[in-house]
Amino acid sequence: MIPDDLHQRLREFGQDHLIGIIEQAEPAARAKLIADLQAINLAELHSLFQQRARKDALPERDRIQPMPVPSMTDAERAAFHEAGIKAIVAGAVAYLVVAGGQGTRLGFDDPKGMFPIGPISKKSLFQIHAEKVQALRQRFNARFPLLVMTSPATDERTRSYFKRKNYFRLPPQDVLFFCQGTMPAVDLASGRLLRESAAQLCLSPNGHGGTITGLHAEGLLDELDDRGIQTISYFQVDNPLVNLADYLFIGRHLREQAQVSSKVLPKTGPKEKVGNFLLVDSRCAMIEYSDLPDEWALETDDTGRLKFWAGNPAIHLFDVGFLKEIAVDTDRLPWHLAKKKVPCLDDAGNPIKPETENALKFERFIFDALPQADRWTILATERENEFAPVKNKDGVDSPATARQLMIGQAKRWMREAGVEVADGVTVEISPLFALDAIEFRKKWPGQKEIRKNTYIS
Ligand code: UD1
Repeated sequence: MIPDDLHQRLREFGQDHLIGIIEQAEPAARAKLIADLQAINLAELHSLFQQRARKDALPERDRIQPMPVPSMTDAERAAFHEAGIKAIVAGAVAYLVVAGGQGTRLGFDDPKGMFPIGPISKKSLFQIHAEKVQALRQRFNARFPLLVMTSPATDERTRSYFKRKNYFRLPPQDVLFFCQGTMPAVDLASGRLLRESAAQLCLSPNGHGGTITGLHAEGLLDELDDRGIQTISYFQVDNPLVNLADYLFIGRHLREQAQVSSKVLPKTGPKEKVGNFLLVDSRCAMIEYSDLPDEWALETDDTGRLKFWAGNPAIHLFDVGFLKEIAVDTDRLPWHLAKKKVPCLDDAGNPIKPETENALKFERFIFDALPQADRWTILATERENEFAPVKNKDGVDSPATARQLMIGQAKRWMREAGVEVADGVTVEISPLFALDAIEFRKKWPGQKEIRKNTYIS
């Protein structure tokens, strides 16, 4: 029946309601529940639940300083640019897209990466990212992998999608999938583990902090080391505008021997829904928009500029050795608790669809690794060239706004190449045609005017 040690832990950590359920379950369901429960750290879960009233601890205001605006001399810029190219040519950078989220806000049933975002081509987010990597590989005749983090909810469909699409011309052995771990959801009032069906506990992705443990568990950090890859370029699946060919960003990270580097965006306003980069005890840190108190968000300096100006587009570089250190000591990253509506079974085993929040979910965030770094850099980037988040079905940060930003960038590249695009015309540039304005200008055959919707591939 139930192994003794598990039986004891279920009792000790307030999960004894499961004992009868397991004992009465069909053999297959019983085995599944026991296996899943053995993999859960019930003591940790219990202690997290006990501390649920504690809000994510916010440092005192006097420990916090705004993020200084980064600056560089022209000579430094040139040297960093060159160092970045060198690293890419040497195949020493791996690209990593996190795609484990369920994209509920977008109202799209498939993995978010499959969402058709190309304004004309209708290419998916995954295709656009994969083609950027492929274009970079071709540009430098270099070989570096694309890592794709999935979650149990997106894993199978993501892998079969890439396979069906022939890995978007990347060699399959250079597309490395790994699945992030899960954390169980517990009942908000009692802390009891919830089940979604007779044999299945309610498990959800453990947050993008799960990238580090996921990479480690699959042996990928060692594999990257073996391949001579020192740097991971991390970005989110929901940003089709991310610039993967930022040599300066990569070169500066390497030349300054940083453990982490991040891009920052000047925020559009005090309450923009992005994380806030700032310094806590002089270390690089992030406070989510939802946690930044209004009075801090509204603080301005003598010139009227927001003090907490530095928004998070979620674009980072990580040193592989640094991630290895954290992977073996994950308690360095806190768990964040969120109240959610989680469909589950009631005590009698009947399915319920809650109208209000009934459960607690637990997630780790990748950016909690930032303050762990002794050496870090940040680089300010331009929103219109780097950040087009696809979060909501309509309105702000939606497919419509992201497409407008993609079209806007294509038009700027064309204008810089001396091409006039008629008003109201949609243009899209394939990453395989050009990755930046300079490449576009070099390759553009010379036509001076675009009068109808055009996809350049
Ligand atoms: C996130 C950042 C925010 C940043 C914004 C930029 C957090 C808590 N906040 O907000 O600081 O300004 O992006 O767009 O992340 N993901 C996984 N596994 C998970 C959870 C998420 O892979 O368990 C992936 C998603 O697929 C997505 C990304 O992480 O690519 C971001 O997740 P999302 O929940 O959309 O974050 P936001 O709240 O929008």
